[in-house]
Amino acid sequence: MCGIVGIIGNTPVAPQIVEALKRLEYRGYDSAGVATLEYGHLARRRAEGKLRNLEAKLSDAPLSGVIGIGHTRWATHGKPNETNAHPHATEKLAVVHNGIIENFRELKAGLEAKGVRFETETDTEVVAQLVTHEMRQGRPPVEAVAVTLPRLRGAFALAFLFDGEDELLIGARHGAPLAIGYGAEEMYLGSDALALAPFTDDVTYLEDGDWAILRRKGADIRDASGAMVRRPRHKIPVGSFMADKGNHRHFMAKEIHEQPEVVGRTLAHYVNFTAGRVELPFELPFDFRALKRISISACGTAYLAGLVSKYWFERLARIPVEIDVASEFRYREAPLEPGELALFVSQSGETADTLASLRYATAEKLHTLSVVNVPTSTMARESTLVAQTLAGVEVGVASTKAFTCQLTVLLSLAIAAGRARGTLTPEEEKELVDALIAVPGQMSEAMKREHEIEILARELSKAKDVLYLGRGTAYPLAMEGALKLKEISYIHAEGYAAGELKHGPIALIDETMPVIVIAPYDHIFEKTVSNMQEVAARGGRIILITDEKGALESGLDTMATLVMPSVHPVVAPILNSVPIQLLAYHTAVFMGKDVDQPRNLAKSVTVE
Ligand code: G6P
Repeated sequence: MCGIVGIIGNTPVAPQIVEALKRLEYRGYDSAGVATLEYGHLARRRAEGKLRNLEAKLSDAPLSGVIGIGHTRWATHGKPNETNAHPHATEKLAVVHNGIIENFRELKAGLEAKGVRFETETDTEVVAQLVTHEMRQGRPPVEAVAVTLPRLRGAFALAFLFDGEDELLIGARHGAPLAIGYGAEEMYLGSDALALAPFTDDVTYLEDGDWAILRRKGADIRDASGAMVRRPRHKIPVGSFMADKGNHRHFMAKEIHEQPEVVGRTLAHYVNFTAGRVELPFELPFDFRALKRISISACGTAYLAGLVSKYWFERLARIPVEIDVASEFRYREAPLEPGELALFVSQSGETADTLASLRYATAEKLHTLSVVNVPTSTMARESTLVAQTLAGVEVGVASTKAFTCQLTVLLSLAIAAGRARGTLTPEEEKELVDALIAVPGQMSEAMKREHEIEILARELSKAKDVLYLGRGTAYPLAMEGALKLKEISYIHAEGYAAGELKHGPIALIDETMPVIVIAPYDHIFEKTVSNMQEVAARGGRIILITDEKGALESGLDTMATLVMPSVHPVVAPILNSVPIQLLAYHTAVFMGKDVDQPRNLAKSVTVE
């Protein structure tokens, strides 16, 4: 995704904006732009490619305005050319945007019907045109933004600059982060504190749904309902920017909350949003049609991401998948055929067992594809193909955002394979891609249940053992839920296939044992309900994670039901990661555990 900077200053801001954008280069981008007010009127400079191209334009045609916004764009809707680069502008305003406006097609169609003409292929232009439309009806800028924001769906951050308003910037946060910086008679906006570091260490992080009206002397912050709110100001210690926890107590919380943004960013790398198609960012040295099998190996959470993808590759692309934890794979002397695909999943790209498995597969002349988060890692260097997750640096030992980004990449790969093998029609592919595009926004929605989850966590903290159940892709997710809980709270937890309950774990069930059931409403929902009944009949206390339909249809007395947004069943495990992560997190926090660095665990395990 993209980087946002905004400044209300006292000297020309364009050079400062470019400097701040350079600090956001790590986020990745393919075009950049700046807008300022020149003698009260909007002026823009934009360029395809790296910031040096924008700097060259600014040196040929400098901007002297003392208020402005800037952006580095990671193309999602529309090619990375100058026309699609931000800021997008009308005669009234300029806007920069990070994230995805999910309902842009319908909003665009509505405006086109009213005679509005669009110049770009982006989803962002719809925001510029909507606010402009309101202003043309006579609404002042703040009001025009206020009526527009509730119409936008998705996960995004926005910054607006208005023609003739040399004292006003508006920023909005909905699922993607945005921070306000305070200076001496100057104000700043940035997609993270790192962007603001050259100007100020005095920062407020907007909360989800907040929007802020910045003037030279300060900022008014409003929440999603439009009510004025106060948000804390933080002093950011010098040198701590790379390890910035934002508004959160722990990195794990920050990383859970970053998921709408980083999943969106990862998705943008694999999916053509406009065409509704998966477009892999690399050429394959093999043909999916000829693949007889995929062998997956990984460790820990990455292994569980692989296990979810087994269901996807098999169902969507009809490719048989073998999967093993890497420490087993490397020694079990599996018979492998040259030309098969060996797939590895790793956040760090350095895990010793996974790396050893990669080397084993390489020696056996398999094609190797690694899904990694660290592009400079050993596994990335040694694999034939690298599918990068764009989760950003993950600090918390318990993996969260890396997991959901791994799922995003693996599902994109499975869809690409399905298309190549003719097991998915273009319509089916589009349906799945649309479902994926909606995930970041739905993750933001899911986070709104956090308070409910926090209360539930207090109950969970009293348990000695917890059982997680699920079927289909909810089964590996149940294992991931149990892993998260035991890693950071040290409560014994197990994840089981719901259908296996009666073959053993049912013996454990009594009224002291919470049973967390992950059951989105899908083709096997009824079967899971039967298993829940078996639990209920033995006095077990059920926490059900489902969607609206599931909550309605389960007909069971549960200890709690967490109702998640309704999604396409294929993407449900990505979304349902949010409640299981939050549940583990709040349980461990309530118990006073060291959430970011649990005892005995390491982030990167480079020993066998
Ligand atoms: C450690 C971490 C886990 C991680 C696993 C695999 O156990 O604590 O969070 O899932 O290693 O690490 P990788 O970097 O290969 O994904």
